[in-house]
Amino acid sequence: SKLEYRGYDSAGIATLEKDSIKVAKDKGRVENLYNLEDTKKLEGSIGIAHTRWATHGIPSKINSHPHLDNSESIAVVHNGIIENYIELKNMLIKNGYHFISDTDTEIIPNLIHYYYNKDDGHDDLKLLRAVKKTCDSLIGSFSLEILSKYMPDNMIVVRKDSPLVVGKGNGENYVASDIPAILSYTKDFYLLDNYEYVLLSRDNIKFYNKNLNEISKETTTITWDAMAADKDGFEDYMLKEIMEQPKAIRETIGSRLDGNKCNFSELDSDFSKEFLSSLHQIYIVACGTAMHVGLCVKNTIENLCKIHVEVDIASEFRYRDPIVDDKTLCIFLSQSGETADTIAALKLSKEKGAKTIAITNVIGSSITREADYSIYTHAGPEIAVASTKAYTSQVVLMTILAIYFAEILGTADESLLVDIKKNILELPKKIEEVLKCDEEITKFAKKIYQEKDVFFLGRGIDEAIAREGSLKLKEISYIHSESYPAGELKHGSIALIENGVTVVGVMTDKDLVKKTVSNIQEVITRGAKTLVVSNQDIDKSMFDVVIDIPETNCFVSPILAIVPLQLLSYYISKEKGLDVDKPRNLAKSVTVE
Ligand code: M6R
Repeated sequence: SKLEYRGYDSAGIATLEKDSIKVAKDKGRVENLYNLEDTKKLEGSIGIAHTRWATHGIPSKINSHPHLDNSESIAVVHNGIIENYIELKNMLIKNGYHFISDTDTEIIPNLIHYYYNKDDGHDDLKLLRAVKKTCDSLIGSFSLEILSKYMPDNMIVVRKDSPLVVGKGNGENYVASDIPAILSYTKDFYLLDNYEYVLLSRDNIKFYNKNLNEISKETTTITWDAMAADKDGFEDYMLKEIMEQPKAIRETIGSRLDGNKCNFSELDSDFSKEFLSSLHQIYIVACGTAMHVGLCVKNTIENLCKIHVEVDIASEFRYRDPIVDDKTLCIFLSQSGETADTIAALKLSKEKGAKTIAITNVIGSSITREADYSIYTHAGPEIAVASTKAYTSQVVLMTILAIYFAEILGTADESLLVDIKKNILELPKKIEEVLKCDEEITKFAKKIYQEKDVFFLGRGIDEAIAREGSLKLKEISYIHSESYPAGELKHGSIALIENGVTVVGVMTDKDLVKKTVSNIQEVITRGAKTLVVSNQDIDKSMFDVVIDIPETNCFVSPILAIVPLQLLSYYISKEKGLDVDKPRNLAKSVTVE
């Protein structure tokens, strides 16, 4: 249940006791499991469990994990996708196996059984060899937990491109897809590389490499306390994470900006003036909210460092043969560090000779294993599906990185850099100020929560903020929303504006504010209700609601301006009675493409 936030449609559990594997599973929420007759029959002190987000086959009891092999000797839960499952299934059918689900996963326990029976050995590693042979024949991504009658006190786990961590306890050991899930039991974790096999029992953890040679691994101690992954008195994780942004930003800044000095010790010697000036371009590649961070900081990097910046969606970048070479720096943003498309884009960039930096919040996440350099945001665990503090902490971090590069390059005015740094250091206090708009936003949310469409407008950096505001709204309120560069509206989309429609305007760029005001005037004339987020000198009387945010340097204004928009989507979702933390169809970590 601690992993519910990742998004799922079915749940299941298998335990092993006295040579018998018992399974309880069904579509729907984890809490439904408590009432199943099958659950009451579960026995034992070793078990595997799963929340499934359907890929192959509809959400149903049969398609839920764990899956058993035909002889009911092996149970498996699987995250990821097996791309060659049809050919493997056909091979197994030819060998007498049958299948009851539509999943790709069901081939895995059967394949293990198949290889186990083909192995003449009788030693302790027989099951592990069968698992290895199975994994060698799988194409795709997987993290697997395997339970078997053949080794009743043990569990085997392995990962390839899907997350999995092992937690070391005292007289007990744990496995999970994510650190926060087991943080209340242990702080000592083993982080696994692809194709590392783990044989666990209550008292023992053994690691094997791809060739099944035993290896030793060090634990990583996680310093987050378990509270950080709890709701801490808030109704929802999302609200908690919005409210804790001052703290999260303080942590991000604290690790990177020491008074006036930027600190990126992990990059230091390699990011010389010579290297940075040799760059033809910087790519920022990411998905969803993280990609919106890229859009916000593109202008900052170009302006301060005078290097051309391209921002790309990872799922597009990876398939379009981008112009990337050793004169390119590629920066990958990912809160979870597990997003399949972002990791694939990173691998592609490396193949093409680029230097790669991963910016992530999750220590030891897959992306950090692939990138040349990893920089952590230190924002604390983000549990709600809708990303909030990850966005603001990434914008802060990327802005400090831009300043750091500009200082090495000598491309920006010293006084401008000093001013931005000063503004960054003031951000936590200013976010606290912005959070006070809570009540005003709640009132507006009550007014518009039944709307069908909402439009978000802005220019320049404000357009990037508008995009993120729009994404937040659709994710958790299910209201259709779109964002536009304000000046682009009259080239077609203004046809959608009619009496009573809601338009949200973002105006923090003093050079563009007058233009945006004119565009919003145009929608007001056509009957739109308006909410404006601004720190500029505007005539407030023309808008329905104006949320004043503190003045700040335009490069860091997204960090303040996004907060009222996060709250707006939150309160609309609450007003509609929706599950804010677990919006439909969405998963927290998108580990499949
Ligand atoms: O973990 P990542 O930052 O790589 O995730 C990328 C997107 O899936 C994520 O930002 C998604 O758009 C969020 N649900 C947005 O709130």
